[in-house]
Amino acid sequence: MKQFLILLPLLALTLVGCNPTPSNNEPMNNEVISAIMERRSIRQYHQMPVGRDTLMQIMTCGINAANGQNKQSWEVRIVDNPTTMQRIQDLMAVGNPALPAEMVRGCMRGAPVMTFIARDLNYDFSSYDCGLLAGNMMLAAQSLGVGTICLGSPVRFINDAQNSAEILSILGFSESYELCLCVGLGYANETPAAKPRDINKVQFID
Ligand SMILES: Cc1cc2nc3c(=O)[nH]c(=O)nc-3n(C[C@H](O)[C@H](O)[C@H](O)COP(=O)(O)O)c2cc1C
Repeated sequence: MKQFLILLPLLALTLVGCNPTPSNNEPMNNEVISAIMERRSIRQYHQMPVGRDTLMQIMTCGINAANGQNKQSWEVRIVDNPTTMQRIQDLMAVGNPALPAEMVRGCMRGAPVMTFIARDLNYDFSSYDCGLLAGNMMLAAQSLGVGTICLGSPVRFINDAQNSAEILSILGFSESYELCLCVGLGYANETPAAKPRDINKVQFID
């Protein structure tokens, strides 16, 4: 037994030595990488709510994103009330009369929860802060079994709407904040395949 205990650290060292840092050829198989590789934009959702505890976990991960000078130059409004969601969609349709109402209403892709993210206009890197916040939110959601979609079109349909002041007053962002991104969340009712990516856009320079 004593001999075994002496040999144990040696055995451990040997095993570590046999398990070097994964190379590019080895499968990517840790949980963070799985969440990144398995996340897809979801455009069909079960119409069931996402619990607020889960949403707060997702948002806690969101606000822990890297952000310039830790200014946290974002504000987020979460709409999970179907009546409020419907009201916003209706106002968006009314405020964009040149566009088909169904297209405008449908821009939220049926997500039962919508997060509206605004950036601080007084900070020139606030768009990046908001993008990183959204990225963290989507990966955290993925790891918790919640589907997501990052959305730009509601931003256009709200900011460009004839009644944008009315819609934005529902969201109640602080002065000097501008709506810049949305992330829809909900339980996925589809499993879309990954769209192709072009690794040639990434190049080492020697
Ligand atoms: C800034 C941004 C804006 C987007 N806007 C929309 C949108 O308005 N409507 C939509 O259906 N998808 C939108 N998407 C989702 C993209 O279409 C999607 O991420 C892309 O096609 C890659 O697919 P994947 O997310 O499944 O990997 C947006 C994504 C980003 C990052």
